[in-house]
Amino acid sequence: MNDAPLPQPTTPAAGAPASAGAATPPITAPVDARIIAITSGKGGVGKTFLSANLAAALTRRGHRVLVLDADLGLANLDVVLNLHPKVTLHDVFTGKAQLENAVIKAPGGFSVLLAGSGMVEYSRLTPEVRNELYNVIQTLAPRFDVVLLDTGAGISDVVLFSVSLAQEVLIVATPEPTSLTDAYAAIKVLATQQKRQHVRLVVNQAARAGDGRAITGQLQQVLDRFVTTDSGRSMRLIHMGDIPADTSVREAVMRRQLLMQQMPGCPAALAVAQLANKIESTLLKPASQ
Ligand SMILES: Nc1ncnc2c1ncn2[C@@H]1O[C@H](COP(=O)(O)OP(=O)(O)OP(=O)(O)O)[C@@H](O)[C@H]1O
Ligand SMILES: [Mg+2]
Repeated sequence: MNDAPLPQPTTPAAGAPASAGAATPPITAPVDARIIAITSGKGGVGKTFLSANLAAALTRRGHRVLVLDADLGLANLDVVLNLHPKVTLHDVFTGKAQLENAVIKAPGGFSVLLAGSGMVEYSRLTPEVRNELYNVIQTLAPRFDVVLLDTGAGISDVVLFSVSLAQEVLIVATPEPTSLTDAYAAIKVLATQQKRQHVRLVVNQAARAGDGRAITGQLQQVLDRFVTTDSGRSMRLIHMGDIPADTSVREAVMRRQLLMQQMPGCPAALAVAQLANKIESTLLKPASQ
């Protein structure tokens, strides 16, 4: 659509496991995967809920965490966190505010950079949006141990660009067939367009223990048949965990509170904590504190 040169790096950022060689990359070895995109094929599957609560869980484990609301057109991280930012990403993009003033503290102790909703001009990937988003992330990433990008759903240019800035991708899907079909479509695009060799899957609103593993197996079978990566291997799907369907999630969202703070013992909160543990042990450097 537009052919402005993309600032490098544009695809799996530096620090991602080397993957084009002959040997299988040690995906489970700790790497410095500072930037993690939380994305999905279908909308409304729990990306924003997960971004906020995962950030709280990682913060509790001693990591310096930033969540960036990368759902530029329809941002709502502020709603989930009950924050009313004076300065948003929009103000930074338009030069009205300094980036430093747009980063604020969320209730869980982590930092957030909120986008401000209804910004129609950001639903299209213009050269300005590309450059601004790239610069913001590159400037902030070194100041944190982990940056979570809460992206929009689907495979629009804006979503794919923000995902391209991340070293690791966490796809969120629910067990519904529509969500899985859309997750497959998104994964396929990430293999072909971004040359990714693997993505990670979190199954949210799982009905039973073991749902996620079974779903990962089914999706992997389809990927093995139909999606080949650049290296000639099939796209590898790594199951990171399941979050059960839990009425407490909706209650926390309705009250605009963090589940990890309000109901840390409920099944969904325990599952998020377990996921944080897995992310820490597979993707992050040990916490510095
Ligand atoms: N594990 C869960 N159990 C019960 N309800 C859940 C769970 N996860 C998410 N939900 C419900 O789904 C709603 C949508 O979640 P969320 O806003 O995080 O989705 P999203 O993927 O960010 O949506 P969008 O694509 O619009 O950005 C939540 O407000 C909550 O009510
Ligand atoms: Mg969202």
